[in-house]
Amino acid sequence: MQKEGKAQFKVGGAFFREGSRIVRDLGVLAAAIYRQETGQLRVLDAMAGCGVRSLRYWLESGANWLLTNEGNPDRQTLLSANLQEAIAQKCCQITCENAHRLFFRCFDRKDYYDLVDVDCFGSASPYLSTVLWSVKTGGLIYLTSTDGRTGTGHLPQNSLANYGAYARSHPAAREQALRLIIGAIQQQAASQGRGIQPIFSFYSGETYRVMVRLLSQQQLTPENYGFLGYCHPCGEYQIVSWRKLGQCFCDRDNIPFTLTGPMWLGVLHDRDTLKKMQNLAREWHWYYQEKLLEIMAREADFPPYFYTLGEIGRRGKMDVPSRSRLISALQNHGDRATVTHLDPQAIKTDANLATCIEIARSLNSVTS
Ligand SMILES: C[S@@+](CC[C@H](N)C(=O)[O-])C[C@H]1O[C@@H](n2cnc3c(N)ncnc32)[C@H](O)[C@@H]1O
Ligand SMILES: [Zn+2]
Repeated sequence: MQKEGKAQFKVGGAFFREGSRIVRDLGVLAAAIYRQETGQLRVLDAMAGCGVRSLRYWLESGANWLLTNEGNPDRQTLLSANLQEAIAQKCCQITCENAHRLFFRCFDRKDYYDLVDVDCFGSASPYLSTVLWSVKTGGLIYLTSTDGRTGTGHLPQNSLANYGAYARSHPAAREQALRLIIGAIQQQAASQGRGIQPIFSFYSGETYRVMVRLLSQQQLTPENYGFLGYCHPCGEYQIVSWRKLGQCFCDRDNIPFTLTGPMWLGVLHDRDTLKKMQNLAREWHWYYQEKLLEIMAREADFPPYFYTLGEIGRRGKMDVPSRSRLISALQNHGDRATVTHLDPQAIKTDANLATCIEIARSLNSVTS
């Protein structure tokens, strides 16, 4: 018997990764906040595996209905056993079919869900359009992508197919992979006259998770959906809008930026929701999660990239000061700066890379 949070379950032959607990914890917290705020929580767990997420949404987030689906019919007996209590209380139905079919059935029956969890293998892109048919306006969609190489620019042909965007490689490409997923679902929602709002975006162990809220109004704009430019010679980034596509040159090197996009350029997380999740984590004595949410809340509205300390050191040809000293020095200089959950050896800041190098160098000269 496996235990996670309040759930006890058997894994049997299902896919289950104990080390991914944190992504389930984040989902449980966001779902619990939704339940507190709306008074109900109907969950469609589209790719349930052994059913751990369904169980946790029910026991910890207070879900009042679970539609627990798993494409592999061999898991039906396992799911029925793991969820027997919820089934006995008439809070859960188990289905074994292709998630796409289920999403369209929800639409056909006008049976829309508060939270749809799509914990797929590989890319989430096949589900970005179909999942929208199953979600209530104002409801949440929780997506997984384990296809990191595509979003980080190692397979640009794939990213074109998956996201309708050309992805290039650079030091902040992890963040880009999250933003490509958000951008793609935003574009899908916009094509239906609807919008999305990122609730949180999370990178861990080469996997990417994005939770978004479905909005009734289209909110795609040239400001929140555009391009990220990177200059390989100097390492500087620039946001490039659609109108400036032909005119985006690095001032210093006078060469065109290498562009990735279109992708989501707005906030990475909804800070208000993160604060509520953080408070709940504290209440539940989930201290690691509380700390992580604090870091995520701080980084929410920074530019859509980060600088690694290694890059600052390599470009400045020097030893880099500690991350905390560099952040304090940038703040004293008048720039916003923070740690990021995306890389423990990186910072997010409004300052450009040249400023970071200059400030790191000045710290070194004070020390020596
Ligand atoms: C990553 S595992 C799910 C793990 C589980 N959610 C957890 O947190 O432990 C993905 C599951 O999705 C199922 N699956 C894959 N494609 C599917 C599809 N199109 N429709 C329904 N289920 C699918 C697989 O059989 C597999 O059990
Ligand atoms: Zn340059």
